[in-house]
Amino acid sequence: MGLSLPAAAMLHRAMAGAAEGAALFGKLPAFILEWQPWRKALMDRDVDALSAFYHEDTSVPPYLLRHYWWAYVHPRGVKIFDRGWLINLILLGNYKRLVCAALAEFETAPLGRLLQLACVYGNLTPKLAKRASEAGGTLDVIDVLPIQLRNLKWKLPSRTPARLLRMDSTALEMPDARYDTVLLFFLLHEQPEAVRQKTVAEALRVLKPGGKLILVDYGKAAWWNPLRYLMAPFLAVLEPFTLSLIATPLAARLPSTMTLRQTSYFGGFYQKLVAIKRH
Ligand SMILES: C[S@@+](CC[C@H](N)C(=O)[O-])C[C@H]1O[C@@H](n2cnc3c(N)ncnc32)[C@H](O)[C@@H]1O
Repeated sequence: MGLSLPAAAMLHRAMAGAAEGAALFGKLPAFILEWQPWRKALMDRDVDALSAFYHEDTSVPPYLLRHYWWAYVHPRGVKIFDRGWLINLILLGNYKRLVCAALAEFETAPLGRLLQLACVYGNLTPKLAKRASEAGGTLDVIDVLPIQLRNLKWKLPSRTPARLLRMDSTALEMPDARYDTVLLFFLLHEQPEAVRQKTVAEALRVLKPGGKLILVDYGKAAWWNPLRYLMAPFLAVLEPFTLSLIATPLAARLPSTMTLRQTSYFGGFYQKLVAIKRH
């Protein structure tokens, strides 16, 4: 008996997913074996030992080294985590929806100069670069980790209006009022409060009057949403700065003169805030 086309497509997708999952598990043992010596070298700031694992310079913000080395800094971490299905799992099935929510803000041409603060895993930036090229815009993406910029470079089409720049979001080497739109997609929850405040101040500084700041990140889930209670311990361990982000509404972090539009997703567990800078 032959399979119908949709059933065959589903079977093909399931097999491809299983193969990808198996490949991922194949990489885990080496990652775990390297984990302890690598982590020790980082904590001891032992640059010689570290260079056996990581060939970049080590001027990485301390919170990234301490809390997010496994996700963004370690080369194997980059290979493991930059997968659509895994990001979707981490975002509890909301990845596509949140990417669409961010991209929806880039629909009106001309797009002008766009800035994305920090690389993200998945396909958001390639889609944004495509949109920028179709709408006569340009896209700058900054990140403090060269490994992340390199990883992004391979995901972008060869003819792209995107520039990838190594910079810290707390000290952008750019003039005031340069960009029409600035996007921060799940960056703020990864930064300690003092760093986060500097990042927001820098984003506002480089935004043109009339320009649009787009923040997509975790939010404070509604009281009736079980995630508000269930996820707090996981976030406290794995994403330790998230709780301080959601303790203060995003709107309260911005000047009161800005025009704001807020949207909640997944019972408030995620949020998008669009803020227009006053002329
Ligand atoms: C934007 S967040 C990740 C969001 C989400 N987990 C994802 O991948 O879709 C991760 C990126 O932020 C970058 N990052 C963290 N702190 C930064 C800083 N101070 N300046 C620039 N980039 C930073 C990290 O290097 C990493 O590439």
